[in-house]
Amino acid sequence: MDQKEIPRNLRDDNLSEETKTLISQLQSEIDTQGNKLYNYQGCWYYSATLQGILNFQRNFKPQDSDIFIASFPKSGATWLKALTVSLFERSKHPSSYVDHPLLSNNPHALVQSLEANLYLDSQTPDLKKAKLSSPAPRMFSTHMPLLSLQETIKDSPCKIIYLCRDVKDALVSRWYFRCSYLKKEVDRHVLESMFESFCSGVSFYGPFWDHVLSYWRGSLEEPSHVLFMRYEEMKEDPYAQLKRLAEFLGCPFTKEEEESGSMDEILELCSLRRLSDLEVNRTGKTSNDVDYKFFFRKGEVGDSKNHLSPEMESKIDKIVQEKLEGSGLKF
Ligand code: A3P
Repeated sequence: MDQKEIPRNLRDDNLSEETKTLISQLQSEIDTQGNKLYNYQGCWYYSATLQGILNFQRNFKPQDSDIFIASFPKSGATWLKALTVSLFERSKHPSSYVDHPLLSNNPHALVQSLEANLYLDSQTPDLKKAKLSSPAPRMFSTHMPLLSLQETIKDSPCKIIYLCRDVKDALVSRWYFRCSYLKKEVDRHVLESMFESFCSGVSFYGPFWDHVLSYWRGSLEEPSHVLFMRYEEMKEDPYAQLKRLAEFLGCPFTKEEEESGSMDEILELCSLRRLSDLEVNRTGKTSNDVDYKFFFRKGEVGDSKNHLSPEMESKIDKIVQEKLEGSGLKF
């Protein structure tokens, strides 16, 4: 098959010789969709993504004010990116919002992924685009676990926000997303094979339990450095979570802002309904050719119940509960 027809994260036409040598020594597995995954620092990656991570680890120079938005795939990073951008943009767009960057850019274009965009094909990407405008800090996103991120930024006081979501909903979301970008009908067999991969731990960016635990522990050890957020809590009380985020990032809402409705404006602008309705998100695409509209679906808590059988749900719950035992983290 022509490499161009293969999704970008599965292509191996851009691997350096060094990476080829490294991956030949790594543990590898074929996932249930027939693609080769490599285990690097305890996490499973396709080769192109691994190249992006290595490029990042070897070349990135942190700045003290950097912000990293981390998540397991399909945990709601689109929303968190939009909120974080809005926090730093709020003083520049009082109420009218006419030229707000979110009106003409998808959140993933404003906060780009380290391994899936910036460093995917480059050792030295132009990081100027990570800074929206002065005095906003640089903002990046990633799906790599904390261990792999921290190796590169360990002495930096930068801020890391981790967004966690009930993994059953994230799995169903990933299934829809995958079928959409591969332009395939939503197929139960695909969901079942993704479920098997998930349960075995051998899935892209898995195992989930190690991923979530890395950030959970990081947030307990260094609460001023790592903020642990939950999608479900954001849905339940968006005001409280937005406030928490602003305080963590050192840009808390003033009393006047709270009283003048600044939080309502941000939450409205970043709502799934509003964002998905914007022209840019209805018609635009990522640099990897994925339609922005695929990042917006239902945004509900508990949608997995409509797709996973009770047996599948309880199997995942049992595995996750066992793996998280003793950590203090519960779902
Ligand atoms: P569903 O597929 O369950 O609807 P990510 O942003 O990490 O790729 O995750 C995508 C999930 O977040 C999708 O979940 C999507 O609908 C949801 N989402 C995207 N934007 C959102 C927003 N502004 N508010 C709430 N949920 C949002």
